[in-house]
Amino acid sequence: MLLAQGRKAPHLAAVLIGENPASQVYVRNKVKSCKEVGFESTLIKRAASISEEGLLEIVGELNQNPQIDGFIVQLPLPKHIDETKVTLAIEPRKDVDGFHPMNFGRMAQGMPSYLPATPFGIVQMLERYNIPTAGKHAVVVGRSNIVGTPISILLSRKAKVGDCTVTLTHSRTKDIAAELRRADIIIAAIGQANFITADMVKPEAVVIDVGINRIEDVSVPKGYRLVGDVDFDAVAPKCSFITPVPGGVGPMTVTSLLMNTLKSAKGEIYG
Ligand code: GUN
Repeated sequence: MLLAQGRKAPHLAAVLIGENPASQVYVRNKVKSCKEVGFESTLIKRAASISEEGLLEIVGELNQNPQIDGFIVQLPLPKHIDETKVTLAIEPRKDVDGFHPMNFGRMAQGMPSYLPATPFGIVQMLERYNIPTAGKHAVVVGRSNIVGTPISILLSRKAKVGDCTVTLTHSRTKDIAAELRRADIIIAAIGQANFITADMVKPEAVVIDVGINRIEDVSVPKGYRLVGDVDFDAVAPKCSFITPVPGGVGPMTVTSLLMNTLKSAKGEIYG
């Protein structure tokens, strides 16, 4: 449609710092998905030894570059770089991750904004599978800025996917299992392999597993396999819906990032 109008294809840039194996896989998937849908993409790779100023310079150039509709700086960053400083340096209109406080604040107040990709993907899944959320009790495990905190806000908002009563649990919660047993909808974003077991899940619950954890598996050439935060085999027979790992939330996250990039190219949020 954009091309038919004589406009250019949406263009996403990704900045990858260092050799974190998971980050390399995520960024590769994002770039590959751009190709599949006809978007332009640019991958900027730098060594972990890059200085904070060096990275801020790259961010500044991407902010200024009129060819780039949106960009992300893949997290985590090396210890010597302040992630908050980098996030604040990203121009909100190009912040397709939705991590800048401008976009986060707009999201929290129900204003048009780029929603963080993983929470956006979860909302899309609930919507497209027609899973009722109004009045349901959602229990979120994990309070990260990227997933737990924003999905808690989104599910509690007055919206088509929303109107939940939300409990946000974390490492200092007294009895996570007891909270989970009351949940109609579970969002697991802890980062611990098979943390949620069948005894913690109410029959017919909806289970969304955000975790991507490597566990040793000597039977495969790579020596490891990926599992979620939920003990899938034991929990699946009990619940009404459950997302697998891999192949559940992960692809939705990438899709959401592309949707945000398209929104940026069309000027839907900031004009
Ligand atoms: N690290 C883990 N998830 C994400 C994400 O969605 N965006 C970025 N930039 N880094 C991440």
